[in-house]
Parts: sequence; structure tokens; C-alpha cells
Amino acid sequence: MSGPFELSPLPYDADALEPAISARTIGFHYHKHHKAYVDKLNTLVGGTRYADMKLEEVVQAALGKEDEKTKSIFNNAAQVWNHDFYWRSLSPRATQLGGKLEKAIIRDFGDVKSFLRKFAEAGTEQFGSGWAWLVSNNGKLSIEKTANAVDPMAKGTNCLLTIDVWEHAYYLDYQNERPAYLEAVLTKLLNWDFAGENLDKEGHVVRAAAE
Ligand SMILES: [Fe+2]
Repeated sequence: MSGPFELSPLPYDADALEPAISARTIGFHYHKHHKAYVDKLNTLVGGTRYADMKLEEVVQAALGKEDEKTKSIFNNAAQVWNHDFYWRSLSPRATQLGGKLEKAIIRDFGDVKSFLRKFAEAGTEQFGSGWAWLVSNNGKLSIEKTANAVDPMAKGTNCLLTIDVWEHAYYLDYQNERPAYLEAVLTKLLNWDFAGENLDKEGHVVRAAAE
């Protein structure tokens, strides 16, 4: 399926996150689920104003619209963006938390351990499919959880990290043990470099044009 939106390359090999996340999980998650959102989005935007927008703009412009087609455009566009962001939130090599990001985490959560516990709680408590996020609002950090395809970026909030808590992200490796998946991701895979870059970009986040 061709169209304006593309499946971004996975930033590492499918087996690079093992043993925390298996190559089999990545195979389904990236090549089937993520790809399906891209293909569906391309089908839906054909002949619409959304076909000429950047992905972030589609998510922000389609947010909250009531008609079924636009809701579907929102869901698929947001899921493409969320997955692009999720893959980059993880790193197969250890990254170091430091500098401005570490200072902000200690200031806003007390210490790194408390931050990790709150991030895990958000992912565990999200009822059903969704996402847990570390976000920054004018430099103040907080944790959010969102349902289904919704993301904080849709309302212009600067996202630093995300963890996918849809069952397709962990079921093959952890079955129903979402907390075990979250612990593995939080302790072994978080990409602090990516989070730090996102914090540094604050103020340059694409914000929805007033409509
Ligand atoms: Fe996913």
C-alpha cells in the first residue's frame, strides 16, 4: 500500500532487545501491528486534507472529531506516531541518565527510584490497552497514562518517553504479566539519551494550529 505515510525503520535489529523483549514479539509488533496502522492510515487519508499534513499535524487536527472516518484517521495516525516514539524510547545498549533530565526527575519525583515506581504504576493501572508516558510541561515533568491510541502530543504536550501497554507489546513474552514486562523495560531498556533530547527540544514541539 503506497501513500504519504511510511513505516519508519526500526532503529535496531528485531532481536536487539532480548531477553526483555523477544524478536518474536518485535516481529509481530513492528511488522504486523505497526505496519497495519500505517497501511490503514494511508487508505483513510486518500483524497482528504490530511494527506498533505505531517503525521503530528494529522493527530492534532483529527483529535476530538466526531465523525467515524476522522476518528479512525486519528486512531491510526496516533498509533503510527506512538509506535515510532515507543521504538525510540527503548535502547538495546545501556544509556546513562544525567544532566538536566536527571536534575528534573529528582526535582519532580524525589528520586529516580520513585520516578520508576510511578511510571510502572501508570502502566499497570492503565485499564485495557494504552500507553504510559513521561512528559514535560514547560520543563516540569509528570507521568500520564492514556487509553487506546490517545497520546499527550495530540494536545501539544512534549513527550519524553513512552511504554506501550497494549497486550500485543508483551503477551508472547509475559502472557498477562504486564508488571513483569514493565519492570524489564524500565530497568533494562529505557533510552535516556532520547528522553534528554526530547527535553532539550521543549518549545519546538509542534502545536496544533487554532482551528
Ligand atoms: Fe503496540
